Amino acid sequence: MTGPADAHGPHRDSIPAPRALAAAPRLRPVTAQDRALIEDFVLDDPAYTRTSFDQLPSIRDVDAILDGGPGNAGSGAHQVLGAFSEDGVLLGVAQAVHRWPSTVSCYLGLLQVRPAHRGRGLGATLLAATEDTARARGCRQMLLSVIARNHSGRAFWHHHGFLLLHPQAARAAAPLSPLLMHKSL
Ligand SMILES: CC(C)(COP(=O)(O)OP(=O)(O)OC[C@H]1O[C@@H](n2cnc3c(N)ncnc32)[C@H](O)[C@@H]1OP(=O)(O)O)[C@@H](O)C(=O)NCCC(=O)NCCS
Repeated sequence: MTGPADAHGPHRDSIPAPRALAAAPRLRPVTAQDRALIEDFVLDDPAYTRTSFDQLPSIRDVDAILDGGPGNAGSGAHQVLGAFSEDGVLLGVAQAVHRWPSTVSCYLGLLQVRPAHRGRGLGATLLAATEDTARARGCRQMLLSVIARNHSGRAFWHHHGFLLLHPQAARAAAPLSPLLMHKSL
């Protein structure tokens, strides 16, 4: 990232130029049977884990995707949605807990698209599908946490209507602090 760190301002300098998708991705839930595909997916994006956790991707990141995200067992409805290419490659993941942390919220644990497939609408497609399910399950707001120094991720959320829950605290946040963002559905 080279742009200034602003709590609200979009950082569009790292947005890939839009490219056409070869074929519409296939959306379906990601399951334990997809473990090898998920491993290949997380290992393909060391920049994301470096930015968010100061670490290279590892098996723990695979487990974290399959675990379904935060929330006490049984208190929310976990959904891990994958976007797959025609030949079965995992291109993107959206992980959500519906009706958590409150019955009217949907917590988005992760939205990630393979670096080489960004800028083709996959992130927006996964987000829209997750929001549609959340609405259908009675949620009225989306919540997520993004690492302060993930300026590109923050700009993506801002572009999609998410607002910082505590904008003043965000301005003073340490680079690896999680920032809460929300959006009404
Ligand atoms: C954030 C991410 C999921 C976006 O996925 P993507 O497939 O490249 O996004 P899309 O192509 O669907 O973009 C959809 C829209 O968002 C915009 N957008 C994409 N990335 C953006 C960014 N970094 N900043 C601002 N807008 C962005 C696009 O211009 C497009 O806008 P339009 O619909 O008005 O034309 C992807 O960059 C990614 O995986 N990043 C690493 C993981 C991450 O940081 N996740 C978010 C934090 S948890």
